[in-house]
Amino acid sequence: MSELLDRLLRAGTASDAEIAVLVKEEGMDAVLAALVEEVLFRASLPNNPDPVDIALDITHYAETRRVVFRSVGGEPVTRVDGDASREICRALGMSLTHLVRRVYGRFDQRRTGDFSDVFLPSRPDDLSRLPGLVDSTSRASGALMTGLTIPRHELGALCSSSGSDKWASFHWYTGHYEREFAPYRDEPVRILEIGIGGFDGDLGGGSLRMWKRYFHRAQVFGIDLFDKSALDEPRQTALVCDQSDPAALAALAQEHGPFDIVIDDGSHENEHVRISFDALFPYVRPGGLYVIEDMQTAYIPRMGGTEGPSAGADTSIGLIKRLVDDLHYHEHSPASVPTATQQDVVGVRAYRNIAFVEKGTNGEVGIPPWMDDAAWAALGALPPTD
Ligand SMILES: C[S@@+](CC[C@H](N)C(=O)[O-])C[C@H]1O[C@@H](n2cnc3c(N)ncnc32)[C@H](O)[C@@H]1O
Repeated sequence: MSELLDRLLRAGTASDAEIAVLVKEEGMDAVLAALVEEVLFRASLPNNPDPVDIALDITHYAETRRVVFRSVGGEPVTRVDGDASREICRALGMSLTHLVRRVYGRFDQRRTGDFSDVFLPSRPDDLSRLPGLVDSTSRASGALMTGLTIPRHELGALCSSSGSDKWASFHWYTGHYEREFAPYRDEPVRILEIGIGGFDGDLGGGSLRMWKRYFHRAQVFGIDLFDKSALDEPRQTALVCDQSDPAALAALAQEHGPFDIVIDDGSHENEHVRISFDALFPYVRPGGLYVIEDMQTAYIPRMGGTEGPSAGADTSIGLIKRLVDDLHYHEHSPASVPTATQQDVVGVRAYRNIAFVEKGTNGEVGIPPWMDDAAWAALGALPPTD
């Protein structure tokens, strides 16, 4: 299932021929089942006064499948194929290729002219039923179509409804996340978050739910000290791992990585933050981001922080300050062999309590070391030295 999902997430922006190969290899029913599961996850809560069944007829070359969705006001939309207890009020038709793109494509892609529609197959004998039937069918269709559309959630609102504390609690992180994550939002990214939430007592999972909805093509992994595998569902996996154990982090990253985004929202112990960064940054893809939340603990001595206005070298903020130095290694140590972070860190963006470290190739040579005062003077940038 996970391999099929991996392929499907990418197929949303693939060619017709590539999608055809995927369907041939994985089978039409398996592909359709995975897509329908995502449609049901995304569909908004219906508000139709009367229950309504809507058919979705999917074609792939000579083959056709009918999926029937039941919409009951106030309850999640369900799949009810084979239950003929209700009349179908609407039949939508779509190619499997268009369905793949509608579910796992990019937000700005075409959303019109890719389906057929037959409204109300039978006219009620009692026409006084008609307004209610039309109203319920329209509302139910709207709920189903939200499942067939790439969503654009505002992250603050999504954070509140998902139960994460990243916004409107002690933190206001989602504005920074919106700005930093915009380039990844339509991509089939792999995300790892340290710290699922809930600690020992509750299941937590607020931010996992939030990321799964925000990144509609993402596979989201979370790790925690406690078993939260009850949160597992397609595109969302909860694993047990201690962020202070570098070998366990490396093993996990080898199995599930590399990642496009890693977020540290775990213990916030300064030592743990540094251990996790050292262990996991090598498993961030070039072009990806490593995020450290709650860096205020760099000033809290009982969490390994420093007393006073300048955070020490062994704190999270000390790490960020060092990475800014690493970014400029060529300027201060041009002759030395660069360390891994000197080579791989290409951006360090710190906001209040949160920092984003961007991975890439820090290969710009910059000003050559032989540009001494005499050379600058020859360029006219300094007065002659003699
Ligand atoms: C602040 S909560 C995470 C909140 C969640 N990310 C959200 O936004 O909804 C911190 C979580 O980190 C977990 N944690 C604490 N120490 C840890 C460690 N050493 N390794 C992994 N997880 C840890 C706790 O069990 C807790 O569930």
